[in-house]
Amino acid sequence: MTEKDFIPQPYSAVVEEGEVTWQSPSNIALVKYWGKLENQLPANPSISFTLNNCRTTTTLKFQKREKSDSGFDFELLFEGEKKDSFRPKIQEFLKRVEPFLPFLKDYKFRIETSNSFPHSSGIASSASGMSALSLCLMSLEKQLDPEMKEDYFIRKSSFLARLGSGSACRSIEGDLVVWGMHNSIYQSSDLYGVPYRGEVHDNFKNYRDTILLVDKGEKQVSSTLGHGLMNDHPYAETRFRQAHDNLDKLKKIFRSGDLEGFIKIVESEALTLHAMMMTSQPYFLLMKPNTLAIINKVFEFRQETGLHLCFTLDAGANVHLLYPDSEKEETLMFIKTDLSKYCQGEQYIEDHVGNGAKKLA
Ligand code: DP6
Repeated sequence: MTEKDFIPQPYSAVVEEGEVTWQSPSNIALVKYWGKLENQLPANPSISFTLNNCRTTTTLKFQKREKSDSGFDFELLFEGEKKDSFRPKIQEFLKRVEPFLPFLKDYKFRIETSNSFPHSSGIASSASGMSALSLCLMSLEKQLDPEMKEDYFIRKSSFLARLGSGSACRSIEGDLVVWGMHNSIYQSSDLYGVPYRGEVHDNFKNYRDTILLVDKGEKQVSSTLGHGLMNDHPYAETRFRQAHDNLDKLKKIFRSGDLEGFIKIVESEALTLHAMMMTSQPYFLLMKPNTLAIINKVFEFRQETGLHLCFTLDAGANVHLLYPDSEKEETLMFIKTDLSKYCQGEQYIEDHVGNGAKKLA
């Protein structure tokens, strides 16, 4: 599919008003997206586990306007309160998606959104937030075009979410989602995420992710800025090639169930992401002393127990701990007794792999 395929034909139905609610999860990348080209196209392919408990719920209320003038008309409520600081991001998103959703200026919108995870936990809500909003807008488009196919609905939701925030396109459908063209991944595309259709060993079913909240503050450098620094990064080309190779390796690992191989790729991806930040110009550092303390404890735990706990990182100081469902008892005990002390307010979030977004009645 190309971008043009997402420009709709004139709509067949008239919709005066209504509302729709979607709940959309966050995701955690195993091979990281870091670096992008024009129009939110990724510089390399990535793959993520979809999460289950970390979610955004968004209700979109819409009402036809008397006449559509030049601007977008929307109100924004976050956890029940007006949130003006989010407006510029939504405004920019609507502008980017308007060519593909030509009805946007015909309606007055009220967007009500809330997160299942604690406010300002340092957990990025852009993936769950942008995917939930995209799905709501697609539900409205589906009412305007009742013949729309399910396949198209899902792809276009991911396509729109990508325009809001790259990683958001991996939060629509599937437990493992690939975004970005990769030679040996069926139907992979730079334009949207697709569920990974390769064989996956039972070892990876219901994989756990416990998120240790090391630093709940606002990040000093936004992801968007960080991506930009990959443009003339001295190691960029090598890094992008490595992401392709790591996906090839992961394909084999998913099939065979090789947990040790999985750990090697996932941890290396996390450290490479942060190494790219530390070697950008200007350079920056998002890990905190407790991030490193946790990583070292994870190494020791693995050495002592032979269990398969590993870590990964997003663009921040929090640590995602990934481990098989079959090892959850011992691992959770270790997290509680040995690792929670490195978290702000001893806080961590227990999550596991989920299947994607849900429409609520
Ligand atoms: C480190 O998707 O937040 O989490 O497209 O600028 O909104 P924008 O960036 P964003 O970048 C996330 C980067 C990452 C790795 C990943 O999720 O693949």
